[in-house]
Amino acid sequence: MKQIVVSDRPYHLSWDLTTACHLHCNLCYNTEKKSHPTETRDLIETILDNVVELKPLHLGIGGGDSLLSPYISWILQQLAERMGDEMPIITIDTMMVNQGEDVVQQVWRLNKDLGDNRIQFYLSIHGSPEVHDKIVGYKGHFKKQIEGIKLLKRYGINFSLGIVPTKENFNQLDTVLILALYWGAGLLNISRFVPIGKGAKAYEQNLSSEQYKWLLDWIVTRNTQLSCQLP
Ligand SMILES: C[S@@+](CC[C@H](N)C(=O)[O-])C[C@H]1O[C@@H](n2cnc3c(N)ncnc32)[C@H](O)[C@@H]1O
Repeated sequence: MKQIVVSDRPYHLSWDLTTACHLHCNLCYNTEKKSHPTETRDLIETILDNVVELKPLHLGIGGGDSLLSPYISWILQQLAERMGDEMPIITIDTMMVNQGEDVVQQVWRLNKDLGDNRIQFYLSIHGSPEVHDKIVGYKGHFKKQIEGIKLLKRYGINFSLGIVPTKENFNQLDTVLILALYWGAGLLNISRFVPIGKGAKAYEQNLSSEQYKWLLDWIVTRNTQLSCQLP
């Protein structure tokens, strides 16, 4: 009989590096706009020690916006130096990769040293330019996301796209899927809306049970039709 091998390393660990963010997403679970006072070097070092010891297979670094943390480059360097081949697959969640070419260059260098595309990015796109900009509360942000994607493609760095479906953008799923396919995203992640934090005020935007059922059917149908990778 075929044996199922289970790793003794945790499959996934999420590290929300900072609460700082420059967007105003109406659905966001994060209520802060600035860095929290506890985001000190001491705390970062303690968390880093734990990550190195736990050796997760996948590490999601997010926020807030991970690129707004002054420690992001240092953390990536430390993980590479201290974990070497055991470095997890890392996904950097940001909405301002277009302004972070220094980190993109560092990721390109680290990936080259590691000999694979282990460090990747995750960008949210919630619909067409108009719908996306409205949801994130930032006019012109969709355009910045596309600039960010082009920057990643210039450096050959893999990325995934994500959408949080609510009543506001329920009719945008095909638009975002087409964008993911067009730009060559490795994955389109569909996150379930969790109405907490700022998002608690948008509770009525939560999909109905019929819409969730439709969404599951949509995922199955599109996966079959396109042989693409939905969640
Ligand atoms: C808090 S955001 C922070 C990272 C980055 N600033 C961004 O917006 O992508 C992390 C991810 O969680 C999603 N998200 C935010 N609030 C959410 C909520 N209430 N329920 C589910 N997903 C949410 C965002 O769309 C994004 O994909």
